[in-house]
Order: sequence, then structure tokens, then C-alpha cells
Amino acid sequence: MNKSKVGRNDPCPCGSGLKYKKCCLGKDDGPTEDNRTAYARKYKIRLKDEKAVEGIRIAGRLVLETLDLVEAVIHPGTVTDVINTLVHEHTVKNGGIPAPLNYRGFPKSVCVSVNEVICHGIPGERELREGDIVNVDITTILDGYFADANKTFFVGSPGPDARKIVTVARECLRLGREKVRPGNTIGDIGFAIQQYAEGQGCSVVREFVGHGVGYEFHESPQMPHFGRKGDGLTLVPGMVFTIEPMINLGERYLRVLDDDWTAVTRDGSLSAQFEQTILVTDDGYESLTPYDL
Ligand code: MF3
Ligand code: CO
Ligand code: CO
Repeated sequence: MNKSKVGRNDPCPCGSGLKYKKCCLGKDDGPTEDNRTAYARKYKIRLKDEKAVEGIRIAGRLVLETLDLVEAVIHPGTVTDVINTLVHEHTVKNGGIPAPLNYRGFPKSVCVSVNEVICHGIPGERELREGDIVNVDITTILDGYFADANKTFFVGSPGPDARKIVTVARECLRLGREKVRPGNTIGDIGFAIQQYAEGQGCSVVREFVGHGVGYEFHESPQMPHFGRKGDGLTLVPGMVFTIEPMINLGERYLRVLDDDWTAVTRDGSLSAQFEQTILVTDDGYESLTPYDL
């Protein structure tokens, strides 16, 4: 690109969405800096090449296969530690590593979050009961690549509150995912999710957000599930991140139990979540942990 053609107030050619003068003007590489370099320098975002995308895609297949195995044991009477054993053994048997195990001191291989537990539930002796909802969040490292996905399941037949919060949370991920394309911003995704969830009388958890993923468990950028249209950085092809809205039936506030992990709704209301690992493509998105929403 010819430097002289880019005005100080024009959009920066690096694709950041900032004005040129607020971005690459005067920087060493100038306006010819490509997305990979610019996003690494400005946001610490590591764009994924085709080899990395394929690695994450393959890890994602193992995550989904493991979620399907888990679904088959979700019924009244199942002890949550059984889910942990199943996830651990299936992951290892397939050459993977369960990323949660020992991650910042997390003691188990999967997060299992029942009813009012928003996220980071630690599997243990708790028995699932008829009418519960349970989120199972699986992150697998395979061949060095991380894929991260979760679903919320019904235990037996759901009551109206369980049906409502799970339906709304699933739709939040669907609507957020639909906003993923080059040129849209992180705020466009958060806005779509927040507007829908709050319109349904539910609330969006603020303390936990989606995240870049692939080379590591949690990379830049943070992906809030709330926000304003046009806010935040501009999506570019090669970004890989999770969208994982945590939606409460009551108020958005949480507290963390004495185990330092388990996050529960402050008002005790139900909370549900769905998560996928999403790649920004040239014309939209590809889920690297695809399942129907
Ligand atoms: N899988 C969770 C996420 O979606 C993170 C769990 S961290 C752990 O980002 F330590 F609790 F495993
Ligand atoms: Co995640
Ligand atoms: Co996760």
C-alpha cells in the first residue's frame, strides 16, 4: 500500500478499526504491516495459520466426541465424578490431555456445573437429580492444540425454568456466533447476546468471558458476552476464540465458593451456558467445535 494515500483520519489499513493516526501511522512497519504482525503487536493476538486451524479442528472433534459420551450418562443418580472419570479416560485414550487438570490449581479434568453453578464446578460426590440442569465444559489438548466447548444438559425431564434458561443460553451462543465475520467487532457479538438475553428477562454474567484459544487455554482477546455495537477490536480472518455466554434466570451477580473455583449465582437462580471454539474465516466463521444450536 502506498503510504501517501492513507489519510490521518482514514481507517487504518491494518484492519484494526482505529483511525490511521491512532494506530499504525508513524510505526516502523507503517500501513503495510499485515494483520498478523499488527494484531500481535497491538493486541497480543496470535492469528492461526492453516496448520494450527487443522490442529484445533482435530482437537475439537475429540471434544465433541467426549461430550457425546458424557450425554449418554446424564441421568438421575449419576455422580458428577463419573463424568470426570469418563472425560479423563476418553481424552487420554485418544492421545489427548484434559486441559483443566492442574490448570491454576483446578483439581479435576472437566468442569461440571449443576443448576445455580455458573461455571468451574468441581466434579465430586454430588448426584444428579431429576429436573437438574448440568453444564459439562471440556477443553482438550491434542498434538499441542487446544479446543474448548461446553453444553448444558437436562437431567430427566426439565421443568419450565430449566427449559427456559437452557433455551435462552443456547440461542445466545447462536446469535453471537452469527455476528462473527471480518469487519464486525467484539462489541457486535456481546451486544447481540446481551440484547437478546435481557429481552428474555434473563441476565448476562460479566465476570467470565470468552477468550482466544488454540495455542494455549486462554489467549487474547477477551470476548465479553455484553457490550455495544461497534465497540472493541475488529475481527480479522485467522482469529480463533470462544463464545461461551453464561446466562442467569435471575440477577447477573455471582459469588465464588470457599473452594476458590465454584461460581454460583448470588440469588440462587439457575444458570446455563453453551460454548464453541470459533474461527473467523474470509467471509464469516467456522466452528471448530461444531454442533447445532
Ligand atoms: N473451560 C473453561 C472455559 O471455557 C475454563 C475452565 S478453567 C478450569 O474457559 F480450570 F476450571 F478448568
Ligand atoms: Co472457554
Ligand atoms: Co470451556
